[in-house]
Amino acid sequence: MSESEIDLRDTPPRRVQTTAFHAARDLERGNALVLLTAEDPALLMESLNLQLRDLLAWETRAAEGGFRTRIVLRDETEPTDAIDLLTRDHRRLDEQLAIALRRVNAGDMAEAKRLVAAFAAGLRRHLEAEDALLAERLPHPAGADGVSHVEIMLREHAEIRDQLVEVEAGFGGAEAPEPWEVEPFIAILSGTIAKHEYREESNLFPHWRAALARMAARDQADLLTQVRAILAA
Ligand SMILES: [Fe+2]
Ligand SMILES: [Fe+2]
Repeated sequence: MSESEIDLRDTPPRRVQTTAFHAARDLERGNALVLLTAEDPALLMESLNLQLRDLLAWETRAAEGGFRTRIVLRDETEPTDAIDLLTRDHRRLDEQLAIALRRVNAGDMAEAKRLVAAFAAGLRRHLEAEDALLAERLPHPAGADGVSHVEIMLREHAEIRDQLVEVEAGFGGAEAPEPWEVEPFIAILSGTIAKHEYREESNLFPHWRAALARMAARDQADLLTQVRAILAA
């Protein structure tokens, strides 16, 4: 584990973000990055993390002449709750499908088929954790239009399952398909999932997080264990 430190206390404000972004983007597994800033970096860190697709975990404390923020890769830390675990699983699934799509585009259909099968199993476990466990145990908040965010989630899950079946069917024949036969279906599924994850994370998860925070610590930990068990099944 190596730790590198960047002192941004005298860096002009307009350059702080870019410098921090490049350092955080290059952060490697097992390493930590320490930023020293004159200002509270809360907003800076939120914005960096957004740019880097939720890759980072950090802790800030006041230090001499400013703030000291220690950054590591988020997946090297323990998930804080069931929602954190599912959010990380979104990123993992996105990455897995993107890799499968690259194999399709490279014409490596045997490897693509293997990757799609692993992705499909993981995606079904993820949907099951949300449908069968969390939707049963956690509240069903409604949006400004009165429609329940959980209803929308369940509807989108049904659509995702249908599209997944289409993708699997493309690989289901006795002979390997041509890339152009499966690529459009994977691209459609990938777009549907991205929109769904975005809606879930911005509309539903904040409510579920708040509900978790109101639960007894033991029940919270219990739910995390159960979600983890379903995802790992
Ligand atoms: Fe979902
Ligand atoms: Fe999800």
